[in-house]
Amino acid sequence: MSKIEVLQVGPYPAWDQERLDAHFTMHRYFEAADKAAFLAEHGGTIRGIATRGELGANRAMIEALPKLEVISVYGVGFDAVDLSAARERGIRVTNTPDVLTKDVADLGIAMMLAEARGVIGGEAWVKSGDWARKGLYPLKRRVHGMRAGVLGLGRIGYEVAKRLAGFDMDIAYSDTGPKDFAKDWTFIADPVELAERSDFLFVTLAASAETRHIVGRTVIEALGPEGMLINISRASNIDENALLDALESKALGSAALDVFEGEPNLNPRFLALDNVLLQPHMASGTVETRKAMGQLVFDNLSAHFDGRPLPTPVL
Ligand code: 8YV
Repeated sequence: MSKIEVLQVGPYPAWDQERLDAHFTMHRYFEAADKAAFLAEHGGTIRGIATRGELGANRAMIEALPKLEVISVYGVGFDAVDLSAARERGIRVTNTPDVLTKDVADLGIAMMLAEARGVIGGEAWVKSGDWARKGLYPLKRRVHGMRAGVLGLGRIGYEVAKRLAGFDMDIAYSDTGPKDFAKDWTFIADPVELAERSDFLFVTLAASAETRHIVGRTVIEALGPEGMLINISRASNIDENALLDALESKALGSAALDVFEGEPNLNPRFLALDNVLLQPHMASGTVETRKAMGQLVFDNLSAHFDGRPLPTPVL
């Protein structure tokens, strides 16, 4: 029997690729020079899409695949998948929640500590010989005991807040309403008020059309010249131009960012700043988590084509 055909939007680690190749005919979209011609040639027989969180599947791609039945996302975020286009045709969508939650939270905390304590600059101070030449490294800012805000107390936000509690921080959060499981933390509905009472503001919201630019100029200015913004969610949750203006003018103290508009091609204004920590969208990037994510991408595709319930459905 011939193998089921799947469109692969981006590359995966070798262990995932081998398993997918063994079970499906994988059409490597990311290797095609002429994407439209590639879809025109193979689109008629493709029944699944395997994609990544930040790559998703847009309406044009979905419409180019008349036999499409399922889209399997390697990532918890499915904001880059056109859900309306999928819904219209009864196409199933799956993601990889839970397995990455704690790694994403870990990196958020690492980014806060690294930026607040000057870890990257400190290493450069040693390696460049500045330590021997100039003496003590400039003083940085304290983390423990400070005020933290968590915008979006979902799975990832909750793990971030738990970790912040370990640093004796005074924790508040915004969400659609107060959460029963967050009794020790202060609920503040308005993101501007949350920013006002925060030294460190974490953005941990699942991105959607409704959350676009929820962190705008007013939130950023409320965080203020001593505040730090940490984003481990999606770039679209923040008004990036407002953020860049505030970082340049020092209306905002600093930012630690794992996600960017148009990534991996960043706005060059970021590269000229000395008050940012820039990470290459790697919050879920550990071998352990990525193996679990790859397994779920495969398990969801297999379950669909074998007629079994999907392990982690979105639609
Ligand atoms: C990416 C992510 O999928 O979980 C998400 O939503 O954005 C990430 O885990 C990952 O970088 C692989 O592309």
